[in-house]
Amino acid sequence: MKISEYHLGFVGFGHMAQVIFRAIDRAKLIPRSQITFIRRDPDKMRENEKEFGITSTSLENLLNRSQIVLLGVRPNQAEFVLRDMARLRFEESKMVISVLAGIKLAFYQKYLKNPVLRVMPNIASAVGEGMSVFTYGPHPSLEFRSLTNLLFSCMGEVIEVSESLMDISCGIAGSGPGFVIRLIEAMARAGEKQGLTYAKSLKMAAQTFAGAAKLILKGDLPESLLTQIAVPNGTTEAGFKVMNATHLDLHFQSVVEACSKRSEELSEEFY
Ligand SMILES: NC(=O)c1ccc[n+]([C@@H]2O[C@H](COP(=O)([O-])OP(=O)(O)OC[C@H]3O[C@@H](n4cnc5c(N)ncnc54)[C@H](OP(=O)(O)O)[C@@H]3O)[C@@H](O)[C@H]2O)c1
Repeated sequence: MKISEYHLGFVGFGHMAQVIFRAIDRAKLIPRSQITFIRRDPDKMRENEKEFGITSTSLENLLNRSQIVLLGVRPNQAEFVLRDMARLRFEESKMVISVLAGIKLAFYQKYLKNPVLRVMPNIASAVGEGMSVFTYGPHPSLEFRSLTNLLFSCMGEVIEVSESLMDISCGIAGSGPGFVIRLIEAMARAGEKQGLTYAKSLKMAAQTFAGAAKLILKGDLPESLLTQIAVPNGTTEAGFKVMNATHLDLHFQSVVEACSKRSEELSEEFY
């Protein structure tokens, strides 16, 4: 069966689910007529139907017609939704994709026997530059793997890790855009202090992050790039000296580690 023949249902249709829908729609992977959604607020359901050109329906209908169900509710709604899915005797062969942060595969297995993929997408999926981190439940079929890869590749890159590495992946990829945006903003403010307009300085800083990231994604190693950039006694080296003296790299690592720890704490609530 081709991906364009599948029916997809979104349970929860907030910010993240809408980003995912837009990417799938832009890539024309699944026709709108085969996509349904449900959310709690009937007014927002009607607004979303008009805005996105897809139909809202009851949970029962959505589960009956969709071979792929994407859970996009907040983590505190997970138990409620999963109980409902179990009560409605959701067919066991259907595939479940969950984007809920911090909810472990074991939690889904308490309610469902279905194949489950835990995905941590990030906000850059909105511009096709997302980093989605995957962890599958036991024995994912080839069909499930290839469908989910196709679905998330249209939003950027996909990396699979074991579930024990989802918390640190949240620190790097899931919440990472937030940390990088703070650094871009800090760089832009430094330019503004020296007389650049905020708009020019922000563009300069953002493009500099994007360019440096592309060099690494092309395959250049950070170590070799850094030796090319930093001429002894030059301008970059002057900056590196401050980075070294203030242990900036270690501080930044502790930011990522704090996020990972919080993700671990949150997931302990859902066992
Ligand atoms: N935002 C991100 O950058 C990001 C990144 C990675 C992962 N995530 C994960 O994505 C999930 C959703 O986040 P979000 O930012 O998209 O949240 P959101 O905008 O609040 O969306 C949540 C959606 O779930 C719906 N919902 C809540 N309870 C429901 C229920 N019982 N049945 C059906 N629909 C229900 C809400 O509908 P109503 O508004 O109509 O109540 C809303 O459409 C979270 O679990 C989060 O961990 C988000």
